[in-house]
Amino acid sequence: MHRLVYFSNVSLDLNLFAIEAMVEQAAERNRPLSISGALHYNGLNFLQILEGPHQTLTPLYLRIRKDPRHSGVVKLAHEHISIRSYPDWGMKLFRGAPKGVGAPREKAPREGDLSAMIDAFFGFGHATAFAQMR
Ligand SMILES: Cc1cc2nc3c(=O)[nH]c(=O)nc-3n(C[C@H](O)[C@H](O)[C@H](O)COP(=O)(O)O)c2cc1C
Repeated sequence: MHRLVYFSNVSLDLNLFAIEAMVEQAAERNRPLSISGALHYNGLNFLQILEGPHQTLTPLYLRIRKDPRHSGVVKLAHEHISIRSYPDWGMKLFRGAPKGVGAPREKAPREGDLSAMIDAFFGFGHATAFAQMR
């Protein structure tokens, strides 16, 4: 099983309502493919964690990369994992990333890196971004 994490810039015309609908649809598509994960949204950026079998994860990522609802997609990690951090969700939306919310189901020590990564990228003034942009 693999985990892929990327960061991107949200298209300016995408509002929260549209993002919620997109995640709901993504969750439905992900479940039968055994893909789970989280989408963090801070008003300006996405940070998505995708977990699942390599054969389904890579094609999905290539599709997501091309999606015009975001741009500047930068892959932050692509690694082998033995335990899912998000076992229950096809895709779950997190608004902002308050400390500790990033990966509530972390178990293995190595997986701790994921929380740190999310905090590092989304710990910057997301409240301000929300106030100004939405
Ligand atoms: C930030 C972001 C995250 C997305 N996450 C997923 C996802 O987890 N699963 C999924 O099937 N589609 C996701 N999508 C949508 C895909 O880019 C794509 O629209 C969808 O898979 C349908 O692809 P198709 O129109 O080529 O069939 C995401 C899109 C964006 C912009």
